Amino acid sequence: MAYDIVLLPGDGIGIEVAHEAKQMLDLVQAELPVSFDIQEIPCGGQFYLEHGSRDWPEGSEERCSEADAVLLGAVGWPSPDGAGPVTMTDGNMAGWSPVIGNRARLDLYANVRKVKKLPGVKARIHGLHRSVWDEGTVDMVFIRENTEDLYAGVGGILPKFRPGEVATDTRVITRAASERVIRMAFELSNQRGHGAPVDGVKRVTSIAKDNVLYGCRLFQSVFKEIGAEYPDIEKDTAIVDAFTQWLIGQPEYYDVLVTTNMFGDILTDLASVLQGGMGMAVGCNVGDSHAMFEPIHGSAPKHSGQDRANPMAMILSTGEMCTWLGARHNDAHLQRAGALIEQAVGVVVEAGETLTYDLVGRQNAAPMSVVSAAIRDAFKSLADQ
Ligand SMILES: NC(=O)c1ccc[n+]([C@@H]2O[C@H](COP(=O)([O-])OP(=O)(O)OC[C@H]3O[C@@H](n4cnc5c(N)ncnc54)[C@H](O)[C@@H]3O)[C@@H](O)[C@H]2O)c1
Repeated sequence: MAYDIVLLPGDGIGIEVAHEAKQMLDLVQAELPVSFDIQEIPCGGQFYLEHGSRDWPEGSEERCSEADAVLLGAVGWPSPDGAGPVTMTDGNMAGWSPVIGNRARLDLYANVRKVKKLPGVKARIHGLHRSVWDEGTVDMVFIRENTEDLYAGVGGILPKFRPGEVATDTRVITRAASERVIRMAFELSNQRGHGAPVDGVKRVTSIAKDNVLYGCRLFQSVFKEIGAEYPDIEKDTAIVDAFTQWLIGQPEYYDVLVTTNMFGDILTDLASVLQGGMGMAVGCNVGDSHAMFEPIHGSAPKHSGQDRANPMAMILSTGEMCTWLGARHNDAHLQRAGALIEQAVGVVVEAGETLTYDLVGRQNAAPMSVVSAAIRDAFKSLADQ
C-alpha cells in the first residue's frame, strides 16, 4: 500500500526545505519496503498574490482530509507594499488555510513539540556558538493546545470607533479542549517513562497565567482534576512569565509540559534555542484521525532563495511523520524509517562538518542542499547496516 501524503511547501524557505523533505521520502522509498503517493499542493502568500482569491487551490481542504498525513513547509510572504504579510480579503494572513485552517478543520488538537538537544549541537547564545547546556540535559516535550485561545478567530475591529483605533481578540479556553491535551501530556510522560533528565522523575508541568486570567484558572483546575488520575506522575505548575527563566536556566527539570495555544507558540520558539534554534525544532499537529507535521519556523523571507536555511527541522518532521504513520498502521518499516531519519540527522550534527549558518556561523556554513545530501548519505549508510 502507498501512503497518501499531501505536501504543502508554502512560501520562502518553506518551499526549499519541503523540496529536501521530498528527496528524503524518495530515498526512504528506495531503501526500505515502503511507498508514498505524494501530492504537492502550492499554498501561502505567494500563491495568493498569483491567484488573487484563495491561499491554496480549490479542493485542497478535501485532499488534506483524505490524506494519510500532511507535511507542511512554512507559509507567509511580505506584501508588495511592505505593510506586513500578504493578507486576504477576509482579514486572515494568506497561508491561514493550510496552517490554522487545517489545525481547526482536521481537529489537530495537540501541537506536540519535542525539545531535545542532539549531541554536538552548539546553540547560538549572545553571538557565539557554544555548548551552554550539557549533553543530556535538554530532553522535554511540549504539548501546546492547538485549536482555541487567541487563535479561535473571535475578534475584530470595533466599528463604533474610528478605523485603526480599537481591535479585539477574544481568548477562548474550554474544558473539553484543555482536558484532551492535559490527558495527552500525562499519557506521554508515562510512555516516555524516563522522566526529567535531572532526577528521572516523571513530571508534567502545566504553564498558565492563572493568577490573572480566567481561562488559565480553568486550564489549571482541569490539570488538577486530570492529574489526580495519575498518582505516579509528579504534578508541577508554573506561571508563564516566571517559567521563561526556569526554562532557560534549568531545562533539565522538565519532562512533559502542557500549555495553552498562544503561550505554547511563544514558549516553544524560545525553547528551540535549547536545541540549536528554530532550524532544529519540529511541530507535530495531531488529532485522533489526522496529523500534520511541520518545522516550527516560518518562511524566513530574508533567507529565501539563498540555499542557506537549515533543513533539519523539516527533515526531522518527515521522520516524525513516518513514526506516527508507522504506529498508526502497525508498519515496522515506517517506524524504522522515522528512527533512521532522526539518527541520520544526529550523525551529521555530531560530525560537525556539514552544518548550516545557524549552527556554526556564516564563515563555516555549508549550503542547505549540501547538508541535506549529507543527511541522506548518513541515512543510506544506517539503512544498509
Ligand atoms: N507555521 C508557519 O508556516 C509559520 C510559523 C511562523 C511564522 N510564519 C510566517 O513566516 C513569515 C516570517 O516570519 P518570521 O520571520 O517571524 O519567523 P521565521 O521563523 O520565518 O524566521 C525567524 C528567524 O529565525 C531564523 N530561522 C527560521 N527558520 C530557520 C531555518 N530553517 N534555518 C535557519 N534559520 C532559521 C532566521 O534567522 C529567521 O530570520 C511570516 O509571514 C510569519 O507569519 C509561518
